[in-house]
Amino acid sequence: MALDGKVADLMNTQINKELYSAYLYLTFADYYDERGLKGYANWYMIQVQEEVAHAKILRRYLLDNDIDVRMLAIDQPDKTFSNDLEPLQAGLTHEQYVTSLINDCYAAASDVRDFRTMQLLDWFVKEQNEEEVNASDMIKDYKLFGDDAKGLYDLDAKYQARVFTAPTMPM
Ligand code: FEO
Repeated sequence: MALDGKVADLMNTQINKELYSAYLYLTFADYYDERGLKGYANWYMIQVQEEVAHAKILRRYLLDNDIDVRMLAIDQPDKTFSNDLEPLQAGLTHEQYVTSLINDCYAAASDVRDFRTMQLLDWFVKEQNEEEVNASDMIKDYKLFGDDAKGLYDLDAKYQARVFTAPTMPM
């Protein structure tokens, strides 16, 4: 079954949004790197890899369904940060936005009974839950321990331990 045009367009746009997410998290990693918080920088560099992986999954799906993939221009992230908490809060806000975009894709697929695409998007729905929980936990951790030098040192060490595990194509 050929993909519906609106579904294909939304999925193509989602590739761009995932790549923008990677760009955004690069700026977060830069901020923490410059601050000397290499663990936080590592966490966001892994996040960059995750976002690129998300884009690649969507690209593969479109190609497998004979859709021409268009690589759209990626916006320039424009955030500047004045303290260590702000990127964490911006990260949660961004992930909530991405969740809304995935929901839009899902709704469009559901409207045309495109169960195949919905099955792919089930993985993204679960992934977005994880993304929001992670972002929210980082804010809670920072608010609990980040004001104390030893607490911040320990948090940074915790985030230094994050490693990238490439997600496999969910279908
Ligand atoms: Fe690909 Fe962070 O959502």
